[in-house]
Amino acid sequence: VRIGVLISGSGTNLQALLDAEREGALAASVSLVISNKPDAGGLARARASGVEALVLSHRDYASREGYDAALVAALRAREVELVVLAGFMRIVTPVFLDAFPHRVLNVHPSLLPAFAGIDAQAQAIAAGVRVSGATVHLVDAGMDTGPILAQTPVPVFDHDTIASLQARILREEHRLLVGAVNAVATERVRVVGRRVTFVEP
Ligand code: GAR
Repeated sequence: VRIGVLISGSGTNLQALLDAEREGALAASVSLVISNKPDAGGLARARASGVEALVLSHRDYASREGYDAALVAALRAREVELVVLAGFMRIVTPVFLDAFPHRVLNVHPSLLPAFAGIDAQAQAIAAGVRVSGATVHLVDAGMDTGPILAQTPVPVFDHDTIASLQARILREEHRLLVGAVNAVATERVRVVGRRVTFVEP
């Protein structure tokens, strides 16, 4: 299964996928990385692993749909079948989702449906919760609302800063993401309404 990974930043989740693939622990192959930001650190991570890395700036497109059509064209041209949004800070439209039905994953730094949207770690600290976490879900047309594939709780401590909580959550994101990609890539996922169940391959 050929994967496309979309990023906007540092790309540590991308790195987790690249590392898993190198170790033979990924049931898929990262074939293309696309960033909407030219300065995203993840671009260098991709190239260091010999993976093609493209910049497609949303600023070059007049509409979200036009941008998404360009993403789809680039992914299709590399025969990508599964897409991972790994810190891709854009909302995708049905133009994108209809091209990869039930084949777009997102990783999010909270226990959804709590703290959707941006700055989920800061939202958790401001809310005073004692537990936050990480979620990997299938993407639907809403913001961070799609069927949940995997979640894990992460404690929030009194001394936490946004950065320290972010780092603790990221470690769990990396682990969850590899497992979720493997489940989807090996066709072990069934979706009924908002619920995901796992079947034997
Ligand atoms: C991750 O914490 C990811 O969950 C978050 O951005 C970070 C990207 O880190 N995504 C969102 O907040 C999406 N709403 P990375 O570039 O090091 O993988």
